[in-house]
Amino acid sequence: MARGYLVAGNWKMNGSAASNAALLEGLVRGVSECPAIDVLVCPPSVYLDSARRHLSASPIALGGQNLSDQPQQGAFTGEIDASMLRDVGCGYVLVGHSERRTLYGEDDACVARKYLQAQAGGLIPVLCIGETLAERESEQTEAVLARQLDAVIAAAGVRSFINAVIAYEPVWAIGTGRTASVEQAQAAHAFIRGVIAKNDVKISNSVRLLYGGSVKADNAASLFSCEDVDGGLIGGASLKAPEFLAICAAAQVLAAAQDA
Ligand code: PGA
Repeated sequence: MARGYLVAGNWKMNGSAASNAALLEGLVRGVSECPAIDVLVCPPSVYLDSARRHLSASPIALGGQNLSDQPQQGAFTGEIDASMLRDVGCGYVLVGHSERRTLYGEDDACVARKYLQAQAGGLIPVLCIGETLAERESEQTEAVLARQLDAVIAAAGVRSFINAVIAYEPVWAIGTGRTASVEQAQAAHAFIRGVIAKNDVKISNSVRLLYGGSVKADNAASLFSCEDVDGGLIGGASLKAPEFLAICAAAQVLAAAQDA
């Protein structure tokens, strides 16, 4: 099943106009070495428009990190909707990142609303799901993943995953340097694919599943080699062009082998 690889950078709340320009220039130069994969960057929203200009002659796609759950524009101070993200060149948006869920109180229902708004506005949502350490240690991982997925399937239908990406990000591995083992990543990804398969086997085979959580240049190749891992959502390591490009290169090698 050729799903192809997607390597996505989540810059979180980092950067400046100057540092972004340098980072994007480095990525634009380096990404030509990775023609067999898709690459996405998600800068802070205030920099999307300038990022779009830096990326205009590049295959690198642009995404937002968050969007409003409201179905229309209006009196929602501080919010940004899908049409605005489209307007500044975004094709994707992260939805339900664990930092949004835990720090900003986004529950499954809110995440589902945002997912719906992303698709209604013509964006591809990157739906982030994952368990906390306490949930893993109490063997709740599968229950949590199923609950987070089912909330979106109930709201948007399984067919919505034709135009969506899922990122499995164990919360205990995000920004901690503690990566899921290859076995843990593959088991979670196979489980996620199984939840989708219960609803539609064909869609389960085509949906891209990214792994996120302390992906670095030195562990990307082994994680991306897992049967059900189709790339990565990269936080800290996406802020340095050489490191992010090395992760892209790991995906490129695997994608080229698949194509051969
Ligand atoms: P990390 O973050 O790569 O810094 O662990 C991943 C993420 O939060 O998407």
